[in-house]
Parts: sequence; structure tokens; C-alpha cells
Amino acid sequence: MDNRPIGVFDSGMGGLTTVRRMHEIMPHENIIYFGDTGRVPYGTRSPDAILHYTRQDVAFLRSFDIKAIVVACNTVSAVALETVASEIDVPMFGVVWPACRKAAETTRTGRIGVIGTAATVRSGVYERMLQRARPELEIFTKACPLFVPLVENGRVQPGDIVIETVVAEYLEELKQKGIDTLILGCTHYPLLHDVIAAYMGPEVRLIDSGAEVADFARRMLIPAQGQGKTRYFVSDDPECFRSLAGLFLHGEIADEVGRVDIAKY
Ligand code: DGL
Repeated sequence: MDNRPIGVFDSGMGGLTTVRRMHEIMPHENIIYFGDTGRVPYGTRSPDAILHYTRQDVAFLRSFDIKAIVVACNTVSAVALETVASEIDVPMFGVVWPACRKAAETTRTGRIGVIGTAATVRSGVYERMLQRARPELEIFTKACPLFVPLVENGRVQPGDIVIETVVAEYLEELKQKGIDTLILGCTHYPLLHDVIAAYMGPEVRLIDSGAEVADFARRMLIPAQGQGKTRYFVSDDPECFRSLAGLFLHGEIADEVGRVDIAKY
């Protein structure tokens, strides 16, 4: 048994979809969550800025005696994970490989779509990893930069004309390609699951990258014992985070949310 906490981080709220999955499948684990809400979004930043922020987020999590880090952010997993993982002695699990493995197992036609932030799509990491999993796959990617701000503003319900219009605009191209599997390559996007599923139709399976990394971490780690506890930290207003967190976690945060001066790390 290893009761040390697992560090989980994201640029903001999106990583809470991974925490939700961890609560479901790893209820014994202690979790330290950091959301860099003062600097979100990462997806529109340069690789240098994303690497710098990632090093600071990881340094903060390592101020606790953690057993592993789950990178609940596709942008960081795509751009900075390899570099930062090679600099530290704590295992780091990113979202990209688990999502690619699941998509490669799921597809029947071999035609896979990937949606994500501009930085994730620009990195080309999903094409590389999917082709490593199954070289014959055909992959179609699309950056959807408006999804994160819309999700953070709660525009996620089917029937909301704003989100339905933006979904149709971004996904029309992928629909035309005849994909049968779509990777939600951003941990904010599971909140758009119903709107995206309705637009793409029942023949397209959606892969939740944030949930896949939780499953992967569960298989890789020595488990904890007892009732796990999650502590939350952010780099901007804790109350603002707490008021939106319920949407991502499907439940309220009871305890105090800590505020971190992340620039110090
Ligand atoms: N949740 C982040 C991801 O999975 C996206 C948010 C951002 O752009 O910072 O890429």
C-alpha cells in the first residue's frame, strides 16, 4: 500500500473531469489537485511558455510527498511532458498515450478524429502516438479554440444555440471524413459530450482522454488504503473555482480551496 497522494494538474478546471473519474475508480487515493486558473488557457500559448508553466506546476505538486503526477491537460501532455518527466524522479502520466491506445482498440474503420486546443493539434503528438499504436490508421485533427472559454462559461447544454453552432462549425469537416472514433483531446471537452455526440451521430464513439489517463494510472500505481481525500489548490480566486467545480465534478467541493502564488515555484 502507498498512501502518499497523487498530484494532478491542469491549466484550470478541465482536469477536474479526470479527478471525477479517479474518485469513481480509485476512491482510496489521496489527491492534490492544482488548477492554474490565473494563467488559463495554456492552449493558445507558445511551447516555451507552456514548458515554463509546467515546471512551476510540477514544482508546486512536488512540495508534497507525492507518489506520481497525473497530467490532466492535453496541452501540457502534448508539449511539455516528455521534457519535464525526464527532469524529475516521480512518475508522470499524460493523457495522450492512454487516449490513443483506447482509440486504436475502438475503431473499426481505422478513421479517427482528434479535437483539441491549438497547441495540442499543432504539436502533432496525436498523429505520432496513434501511428505508433497502429501504423495503418487514418487521422484527422481539428483545433477548437472556442470550446474552452465556452465550457468555462457554462455553455455546455444541448439546446444552447451558441455551443451547438460552434460545435457544428468545428466538427462538420470531421463528420464529412467519415470517422468512427473521435478523441476528445482536451480535458474540458467531456462537458460537451452530449452536444458533440448528438452532432456526430451514434456511429461515432467518443474517447475521453481525461478518463483514460485515470484508468491508466490506476493500473500503474501501488494503491492506497482507506478513504481517500482530495485537496484543491488554484492560482486565482478560490471561490470562483469552487462555484464552477460542481459542473466538472458532478458534486460540490466541501473543503476550503487553497490559493497558491505559482510564480514563486
Ligand atoms: N484542459 C486543457 C487541455 O486538456 C485545455 C485548457 C487550456 O487551453 O488551457 O488541453
